[in-house]
Amino acid sequence: MKKILVTGGAGFIGSHVVRLLVNKYPQYKIVNLDALTYAGNLENLKDIEHASNYEFVKGDITDPKTVGRLFATQKFDGIIHLAAESHVDRSISNPMEFITTNIVGTVTLLNAAREQWKDDFGGKLFYHISTDEVYGSLGAEGFFTESTPYDPRSPYSASKASSDHLVRAYHHTYGLPVVISNCSNNYGPNQFPEKLLPLAINNILNKKSIPVYGKGDNIRDWLYVEDHAAAIDVIFHQGKVGETYNIGGFNEWKNIDLIHLLCKVMDQELNRPQGDSAGLITFVKDRAGHDQRYAIDAEKLSSELGWKPSLQFEEGLTKTVRWYLSNQEWMNRVLSGAYESYYNEQYGDR
Ligand code: NAD
Ligand code: TYD
Repeated sequence: MKKILVTGGAGFIGSHVVRLLVNKYPQYKIVNLDALTYAGNLENLKDIEHASNYEFVKGDITDPKTVGRLFATQKFDGIIHLAAESHVDRSISNPMEFITTNIVGTVTLLNAAREQWKDDFGGKLFYHISTDEVYGSLGAEGFFTESTPYDPRSPYSASKASSDHLVRAYHHTYGLPVVISNCSNNYGPNQFPEKLLPLAINNILNKKSIPVYGKGDNIRDWLYVEDHAAAIDVIFHQGKVGETYNIGGFNEWKNIDLIHLLCKVMDQELNRPQGDSAGLITFVKDRAGHDQRYAIDAEKLSSELGWKPSLQFEEGLTKTVRWYLSNQEWMNRVLSGAYESYYNEQYGDR
């Protein structure tokens, strides 16, 4: 019996990680700590909410009392830390929340883990989930490897870089057993519609314009969210303490090409004439400090731990589009904020 704390489990990636662990490891107890910010949604976990090896705790990772109490009562063997403010555009308009959640929140968890495990680090693991954005921006050539120097350029990526440094510092200074992974852009079901793909899907569905920043020539490497969750499972169980693993889809797309492909898939799925959705593309003012290109070299993870992405991109994109089209109620509730009432109905003020 292992007890694992997942932070941010009601968010996009966290909910896929929680589902995978709850279903795959009935002998583990999975505790999901989430503050349910605008990005957290318990509806994402409706299918497993009554599983006997799952517990949800509403709480803020920046609050040492909440975190300390939880650690004292639950005696975790491992932590998979995903809770964060995660949207670059929000970090540009409101950097302070990113500093508080991503940096102070991570240190609050590190302190609690160190305190609980100080007599015996054996078999324990603090797994910190990070992003490829900490490495900065690439030109036309090259890839991020685990030894690429950090060069974060947005408040979001700087706050994630800072949290990565602190996790490593706790390993080197106190011997805390840690592992870190840095992943590329995820896509798939349950992503909050402020990120490119769900936003574009929702706008196409409603025949609203699709805002493409700048010339649409920025490049991202896309990975299906369940493949990221599978990589996290592999790294949590087989990763070497103190190591970093890059996770990526070997799947680079220029934003404008990605949007054209999405438009084609949406036209097909909605039985609209081909070219209909592409007519909605609108070039808008570029994001400040917009990183040009991210591309991950995930060779270490593949050669050392045997992980590879399972889905071809066209297949993953079609699956994603179909999920949003058959879950339009999810989208409407997320956008209306009505999922908060769902939470209150389900859990009261706990
Ligand atoms: P998300 O924004 O969808 O979810 C974040 C979750 O954290 C939400 O459920 C939210 O309620 C919770 N949260 C926020 N502040 C909290 C706090 N103070 N206390 C407790 N819970 C809090 O994010 P995501 O896209 O699922 O990303 C999860 C993690 O993966 C983040 O650490 C992010 O940096 C990292 N990551 C994301 C991507 C991506 O493409 N989305 C890629 C690489 C890495
Ligand atoms: P996003 O999903 O915000 O992820 P990130 O900034 O973390 O990579 O954006 C993906 C890419 O799409 C990024 O280059 C910015 C661009 N983008 C748009 O062109 N229009 C939009 O409305 C959004 C949200 C993003």
